[in-house]
Amino acid sequence: MATMNGVNLFHDNMGEVAQLHGIGVQRFGDTWYAYGEVKFNGNLFQGVACYSTNDFVDWTNEGIVLPVEGDDSIVGPKRIIERPKVLHCPATGKYVMYLHVDGENNYSYAHIGVAVGDSPTGGFTFLNTIQHRGYESRDIGVFQDEDGTGYILSEDRPHGTHIYRLSDDYLSIVEDVVCLKGTNYWAGYESPIVVKRDGTYYWFGSQLTGWDCNDNMFATAPDLHGPWSEWTPFTPEGSKTYESQCDIIVPLPNETAGEDQWHASRFLYIGDRWNPKDLGNSELVTLPIEIEGGNAKLAWHDSWDNGL
Ligand code: GAL
Repeated sequence: MATMNGVNLFHDNMGEVAQLHGIGVQRFGDTWYAYGEVKFNGNLFQGVACYSTNDFVDWTNEGIVLPVEGDDSIVGPKRIIERPKVLHCPATGKYVMYLHVDGENNYSYAHIGVAVGDSPTGGFTFLNTIQHRGYESRDIGVFQDEDGTGYILSEDRPHGTHIYRLSDDYLSIVEDVVCLKGTNYWAGYESPIVVKRDGTYYWFGSQLTGWDCNDNMFATAPDLHGPWSEWTPFTPEGSKTYESQCDIIVPLPNETAGEDQWHASRFLYIGDRWNPKDLGNSELVTLPIEIEGGNAKLAWHDSWDNGL
């Protein structure tokens, strides 16, 4: 039984503020691994940090798993590199990390970065950057379906937000499964998340307001190709997603489905409450999200028991 607050500044086992910004989370074995942007010193790349947890309250620092390389490197200290997400590839057994890799203190490069490791805690070796068919890619997310197929979600301002299917080795993109703009919105939604419950896909995203919060949206479909529903908010309108930007939704184990993440009945929402003046101390909003029967609803709790 772990009690979580609705909003947190998590500390790790060394007493430091956990650098879980732009967080990616996967369960490997019986432990969750979280990857975050290190933002102690502003917005430029300071490495990807990894933490392990069994309850989302206590976080063990697993170190920097993708370090900063030399000045001229694509993962050098002048770059903007965000939203690290890791999948375990069933075909190769490798852990593959995807990142939003951008320019030197600007957002004009707009590629997906790929790094690989032999374990959840790496170290990860940076491989390359990708733009499928030359499409811009800024905020990313990942999704692994129950048949083992991997997907990258990618925000591409001119066209919309894509769901790309990965090759069997998870190192390249083989299909542009769908590309959607928002409902009555000029772009696709960013900070994209897909979860699946009992055969229905739920796609979440944020409007494009930089570090500022907005009413985040979701849509549903019986197949990743669609048809997708209209997009609607999942928090009360005007609440700006309780002052957060959706980042990850973690399926939690339950008594009937056990560890089966595609038939979970309880989910943990984690969103960034960015503080642009002090990014490293930005808080996380952590709340239970109800996902059922084509609906999604996030309700506020000052604190709650996440059952772990
Ligand atoms: C947001 C994005 C964040 C970060 C920020 C910078 O739109 O989701 O990851 O890039 O802009 O302003």
